[in-house]
Amino acid sequence: MIKQLHTQRLTLRQWRDSDIPTFIAMNQDRQVMEFFPEIWSEEKSRQCVENFRQHFVENGFGLFAVELQETQEFIGFVGLHKVGFTAHFTPAVEIGWRLNSQHFNKGYATEAAREVLRFAFAELKLQELVSFTVPSNRASRNVMEKIGMIRDEKDDFFHPRIEQNHKFARHVLYRINGFERGKL
Ligand SMILES: CC(C)(COP(=O)(O)OP(=O)(O)OC[C@H]1O[C@@H](n2cnc3c(N)ncnc32)[C@H](O)[C@@H]1OP(=O)(O)O)[C@@H](O)C(=O)NCCC(=O)NCCS
Repeated sequence: MIKQLHTQRLTLRQWRDSDIPTFIAMNQDRQVMEFFPEIWSEEKSRQCVENFRQHFVENGFGLFAVELQETQEFIGFVGLHKVGFTAHFTPAVEIGWRLNSQHFNKGYATEAAREVLRFAFAELKLQELVSFTVPSNRASRNVMEKIGMIRDEKDDFFHPRIEQNHKFARHVLYRINGFERGKL
């Protein structure tokens, strides 16, 4: 049974087949994919949804499909994911997000991420979450900072799945510790 989360305006739920066409379109939108090396093929998006579903089955948490409560519209994903590569900070669980560009800058990612943090620390009892992006992805970094994540420059890294001389290879890493957060 996959957990559903709720915020004031959003439902974070399991993926439905009816989400897939919007997800494919999102991953071909250059605004959404501005900080990724390339837009995604339809096949890659379909495979990705399968991987997200499998991750929930194996771990009891994952990247949730996000729905607007008012209209039931699927608008993207926010959630948790075990980092799938090896780096100086792994093994680790990542908090991540990607929304349909029609819904940027309405505070949705931050609202969903706050609830995912609560879920991760209060219910799953995880100790630490990380998040990472390219230095120029200000919107994503703002979400990280608004939810209380901290960047240490010493943690910056080159993404092992991106060619080292690619303009998007270097990443900044943010962390948040559940124990310290509980003391705030
Ligand atoms: C990152 C993303 C999920 C943020 O979602 P969102 O719902 O728009 O985020 P929020 O509205 O909660 O917060 C975004 C913040 O960044 C700010 N922002 C947005 N674009 C910005 C830019 N180009 N420069 C500076 N700040 C920017 C917003 O003003 C807002 O800050 P504020 O609340 O202080 O005004 C969304 O932009 C997205 O899906 N981007 C494409 C996918 C992606 O890059 N995912 C992250 C990969 S690591």
